Amino acid sequence: MTTALWTPDQLEEAATALRAGRLAAFPTETVYGLGARADDDAAVRRVFAAKRRPASNPLILHIEGLETARRLARLSPEAEALARAFWPGPLTLVAPVLEGAGIAPSALVGQRAAALRAPAHPLAQALIAAVGGPLVAPSANPSGAVSPVTAQDVLAGLGGRIDGVLDGGRCAVGVESTIIGCVGAPALLRPGGLAVEEIEAVLGAPLARADAALRAPGMRSRHYATEARLRLNAAAPRPGEGWLGFGPGPDWTPARNLSPGGDLAEAARNLFADLRALAGEADAIAVAPIPETGLGRALNDRLRRAAAPREPS
Ligand code: TXA
Ligand code: MG
Repeated sequence: MTTALWTPDQLEEAATALRAGRLAAFPTETVYGLGARADDDAAVRRVFAAKRRPASNPLILHIEGLETARRLARLSPEAEALARAFWPGPLTLVAPVLEGAGIAPSALVGQRAAALRAPAHPLAQALIAAVGGPLVAPSANPSGAVSPVTAQDVLAGLGGRIDGVLDGGRCAVGVESTIIGCVGAPALLRPGGLAVEEIEAVLGAPLARADAALRAPGMRSRHYATEARLRLNAAAPRPGEGWLGFGPGPDWTPARNLSPGGDLAEAARNLFADLRALAGEADAIAVAPIPETGLGRALNDRLRRAAAPREPS
């Protein structure tokens, strides 16, 4: 299969492929997603196959907004408040799915709760509207690899395995959505592109700690694997190591700086692209310390997973 690269004015080609049960990657403000109709079990199973994703890991439903969410799931008052405050945007809510919602069983992999997200990217919104129903969209990368932030990243990982990718340029946020469980007390399931502090400010209370059973099933520790080994919280590179900096500092080579000015949003935008680039230039990468506040939580989470030892397979 040759994978098409569609320009924004070819959006209807992506919509046509999706309506026919085929796979199309598209930009969101966080990372590129691999889309398929959420009501088509065969299409959803093709997503798992293309990514080589474990069948136990459920998919996020991408929707237009709150009204669709109410038709699909039972939203708690906290979920409603968060959706009103942050949708469309980099926030995913997990809520009990309603009977008759029409979601393909393989998308939920037996979970009684569905993950819902209304992406802010105009091309994502236009695509969901053109298809006329929810789209499943995991990050458009082979399972376990770094998430794509450009159409070229998608082609590098999934070219030949999907019908096409809609090119919306570089993603503005750069890390995946924050996932909040709203089945019981709101709980952080995955730190991401929306800061926990902003969410807690709307709730007026701290988020609950997710126990292991509640945590997003896909959050196994080794993920975001790069070709290079990572060493975190480093003061300086050792001989042979590339350097991933944050904030002002000396220029080693090879090096990338996530944000010379120490801006966490800029660092999130650069994280996956810089990791990809450095992994092509060095066998090992030393990473500067990054503060554990705001988007720094998501940055540290992704870096820790990328640095984790490989699981025995
Ligand atoms: O920003 C994002 O969220 C991107 C863009 C494309 O929207 N999508 C994304 O999808 O990151 P994915 O599949 O790479 O990560 C989704 C995470 C996985 O860890 C999965 O286990 C979790 O969400 N998840 C999905 N459905 C769930 C559910 N019903 N309950 C709990 N966790 C769920
Ligand atoms: Mg992913």
